[in-house]
Amino acid sequence: STAEIGLIGLGTMGAALALNIAEKGFDIAVWNRTGSVTKEFAAGAGDLADKITATDSLEDLVNAIAKPRSIILMVPAGKPVDDQIAALRPLLDKGDMIIDAGNANFHDTNRRDADTGDLAFLGMGVSGGEDGARHGPSIMGGGPKSAWDRVSHIMEAISAKHEGIPCATWMGEAGAGHFVKAVHNGIEYADMQMIAEVYGVMRDGMGKTPAEIAAVFDRWNEGPLQSYLTEISAKVSAAVDPATGTPMLDVILDAAGQKGTGRWTVIEAQHLAAPVPAMEAAVMARNLSSRVAERAAGEALFSAAPRMLPEGVMNIDELENALIAGKIVCYAQGFGLISAASDEFGWKLPLPEIAKVWRAGCIIRSTMLNDMAEALAEDGSRNLMHAPYFAELLKDSHWGLRATVAEAARYGLPAPALASGLAYFDMMRTGRSTANMIQAQRDFFGAHGFDRIDGHDGHHGPWGSHG
Ligand code: 6PG
Repeated sequence: STAEIGLIGLGTMGAALALNIAEKGFDIAVWNRTGSVTKEFAAGAGDLADKITATDSLEDLVNAIAKPRSIILMVPAGKPVDDQIAALRPLLDKGDMIIDAGNANFHDTNRRDADTGDLAFLGMGVSGGEDGARHGPSIMGGGPKSAWDRVSHIMEAISAKHEGIPCATWMGEAGAGHFVKAVHNGIEYADMQMIAEVYGVMRDGMGKTPAEIAAVFDRWNEGPLQSYLTEISAKVSAAVDPATGTPMLDVILDAAGQKGTGRWTVIEAQHLAAPVPAMEAAVMARNLSSRVAERAAGEALFSAAPRMLPEGVMNIDELENALIAGKIVCYAQGFGLISAASDEFGWKLPLPEIAKVWRAGCIIRSTMLNDMAEALAEDGSRNLMHAPYFAELLKDSHWGLRATVAEAARYGLPAPALASGLAYFDMMRTGRSTANMIQAQRDFFGAHGFDRIDGHDGHHGPWGSHG
């Protein structure tokens, strides 16, 4: 029994993670339920083969790992994780550790954490797709700190680095790591949706070709919008379908898939009363996008909106500013959600450390996250929009967001995430809101009462029996 760590599940992510671990010099034992997958993996390991012990059974896997054992699960979220834990449990000894590195729902991780008995359990969010897993993901750990400390040297070694600092951090107890990963994914959804909306304005409102759009994203990637998602948006816009010679984007069906993490995030945000409208809009937009036939019927019935913007109505700089402002309010919402969860679940989630762990390796990595880490380190308790650096950036950029949302609405270009971002911004800069009307209505029909602004007595209005 020589391997320092084990891994179960050699799908795309598991295989990439195992190779990454081996490459960083750790002996690893691996097992996959379908044996042929394990054999193929071992055969393809090349130079790293001497670091890898490929095993044929769960028993062999367990026996190949040094005690106390650490075993990473990289199997589909949900029941497969429970099944795998149940199968492992009788083979493990007191103090052995199971690490779920999939995209688990953090409520499941909380439950598994509570059920571990004399084993240790870590719920670990891993971001960065296949490339990240292979060459350096962003890692968000959750569970007992002592358990994290046992494997942190491995996680730090395999993680992405931002200026030499590992993007692998312990977030808190139990499901904290998977919760932070879920918020990452909610932000990922919103970032992607806002980019898609701006793409729509360029395509349908300005008549730009995919190649022209690629050039715009490339240019934006040099400025405040520098990010992995901006970079790949340029790349996918520039790509051409080898089969037809048509721009790749033009042959891709406009129906977005989702595995559910973004949806979990917005549902949790609702439970916590922590508004994340940009993420809600993004989940909603993915859902509506898949109603392909219903949208076609709508277009036949109402005819398509005009969409084409008259010459000179909008410029590319306004679109860039729309994305900058949209991004700031989206992250303000995301960190607000993390704060709310931290209070509710008693996690003490480290906001600046979260911004730092997202600076490299993960899908939402960007230059702006570095500025966010600094702003949150100064004062993590306030709305990110109020941090001096971002307040200034918003003062400059919200006009672009307003122009984009206004013209998009006028010409029928759907921009739900950007529009919700603007509404959030405007609501959060309105000292006197319209909720006095809601309170009056609630009191009228249900005698729910209200607070007064003038300190006078009387918490009901003069309307009928409730007056
Ligand atoms: C990441 C991603 C990843 C996610 C995919 C697909 O951080 O590497 O968030 O974990 O599973 O991006 O997610 P959807 O299928 O929900 O779009």
